[in-house]
Amino acid sequence: MIGIFDSGSGGLSVLREALKILPREKYVYFADNAFCPYGEKTPGFIRERGRAVTDFLLSQGADIIVVACNTATAAAIATLRAEYPNKFIGMEPAVKPAALSSETGVIGVLATAGTLKGSKYLTTKGLYEDDVRIAERVGKGFVELVERGILDGPEAEEVVRESLQPLLDEGADRIVLGCTHYPFLRDVIERIAGPAVQVIDPAPAVARHLLDVMTEEGIIREDGDPSPDVTLVASGDPGPSRSLLDMILNTN
Ligand code: DGL
Repeated sequence: MIGIFDSGSGGLSVLREALKILPREKYVYFADNAFCPYGEKTPGFIRERGRAVTDFLLSQGADIIVVACNTATAAAIATLRAEYPNKFIGMEPAVKPAALSSETGVIGVLATAGTLKGSKYLTTKGLYEDDVRIAERVGKGFVELVERGILDGPEAEEVVRESLQPLLDEGADRIVLGCTHYPFLRDVIERIAGPAVQVIDPAPAVARHLLDVMTEEGIIREDGDPSPDVTLVASGDPGPSRSLLDMILNTN
């Protein structure tokens, strides 16, 4: 069983990609929305939540855990790997594909404050900032929009434009989605950015990494029903994640 967690509904963007290539697995998704957003919380607090959620997912039978949250990956994954024998799959900031493909030499990163301060992101950034200029913005209000189920329309456009426009004004032709909530706003982001800008979501690559690790561990289900088997649990109101999950399951 694959355990997946996030501060709320964002990690469902990773679950969506995992279901495409690992359709026969059982999933348990934990939305820690009683404590959402994680973006402004201290690393210590997020580590505590990481432990509590991991204990819960393991108690449900999870063999492998996907930390489907960039902020929690930055704050907690090293601790979780040190404290538990299980495999943890984390989010990678997709700076590399953006930097290698940019034609303007400017890439934009949208993420939470916690992710932008994390050592993982800073290390990755350090590898590429001699080659491209890396402009960053916190996607202010993006997480709250997604948690309220507002994925498009005038309000979403106004909120997204405020953080995205400065990156476009700096000349970015690649926009890295450094928070798992943000892919749910992709239509709005692409409309504002226009066709010359490529939006990069690391979720498909994370799902492929999950597949590779499960293959190495020998825990892939070869047979069984390929229809989605997802248990959803939330620390707060499960309603918002339920609606988004239903949308994913109905469009897959
Ligand atoms: N979805 C999360 C991330 O990838 C966390 C957003 C938040 O709770 O601030 O960073």
